[in-house]
Amino acid sequence: MDALMRTLFLALAQNRSVSKLARRYGLRFGASRFVAGETLEQAIETVRRLNGSGREATLDHLGEFVSNEAEASRSTEMCLRTLDAIAASGVRANLSLKLTSLGLGISEELCMRNMTDILERARIHGLFVRIDMEDHAQCEKTIAIYRRLRREFDHVGIVIQAYLYRSVQDLADLKELKPNLRLVKGAYKEPPEVAYPNKPDVDENFKRLISTHLKNGNYTAIATHDPQIIGFTKQLVKQLNIPLNQFEFQMLYGIREELQLQLAREGYKVRIYVPFGRDWFGYFMRRLAERPANVWFVLKNLFK
Ligand code: FDA
Repeated sequence: MDALMRTLFLALAQNRSVSKLARRYGLRFGASRFVAGETLEQAIETVRRLNGSGREATLDHLGEFVSNEAEASRSTEMCLRTLDAIAASGVRANLSLKLTSLGLGISEELCMRNMTDILERARIHGLFVRIDMEDHAQCEKTIAIYRRLRREFDHVGIVIQAYLYRSVQDLADLKELKPNLRLVKGAYKEPPEVAYPNKPDVDENFKRLISTHLKNGNYTAIATHDPQIIGFTKQLVKQLNIPLNQFEFQMLYGIREELQLQLAREGYKVRIYVPFGRDWFGYFMRRLAERPANVWFVLKNLFK
């Protein structure tokens, strides 16, 4: 049953018509638990509140289905505005973005140009930019663009997904760049030809990646709500004497709030991924796919 629901939500996440329809009606069905608001101002207020309780943030302007240059420019403009707003408000946050929203699907050169504009602006403000990882079809291109950007910029990082078989090799290949990586389990529906189909294998690979990257001496963002992985990391950093400024935990806005606060109280750096914007539907569906139990939460909201 869970597998069926997962497939359904992931299919809905990719459906342009439903997403457009949802956009018209504003944040609904309990999506505001996971999405900080439709406007940049609302997102900055959320970050301020998170900062107040000892949590850092990374802001993500939600945008899906960019299919022409003008749309990619609009997404780029929104990233620039977000960087400016972070700097002007003085909140502690950086930026996360997806390369497809900057035109990766149209041309790599267009995407490079947009990323260069964003990284130049981020450098002026002293801010860091994280490139999210999307489905496996984008992986190779995303890593290639990251490599090119690293020739010129230090303040940019990427994401590696533990469910992909290729990730151990990617980590080894990227090692020479001393990359700042966010490590995650992986959120997309991938075929068994490219990704571990079973959760225990993903968890084992996740631990392997965390351990290797930390031992390589590189900055590691461990992005998970899984207490078992968090416990493993805590033990490992203690064992290896990894300094507190070489890693951080990351979680999604609206998920496991108590655990977020507890880690911050314990003195770990905790960063919350804060999505905002009118294109909230695809992101919301991916969160439901991760945990079909959340559907009850949606159903309750339908009748509110
Ligand atoms: P797992 O799915 O095993 O969940 C562990 C526990 O966390 C659950 O038992 C539950 O309690 C809680 N939980 C998890 N998901 C929940 C949900 N949706 N609702 C309520 N509770 C939930 N993926 C990707 O492919 N590319 C990317 O760039 C990113 N970026 C990213 C940034 C950050 C900051 C985070 C935290 C995650 C991502 N992800 C991602 C998503 C990631 O790949 C993964 O899908 C989710 O984090 C869920 O996996 P967990 O590691 O949390 O473990």
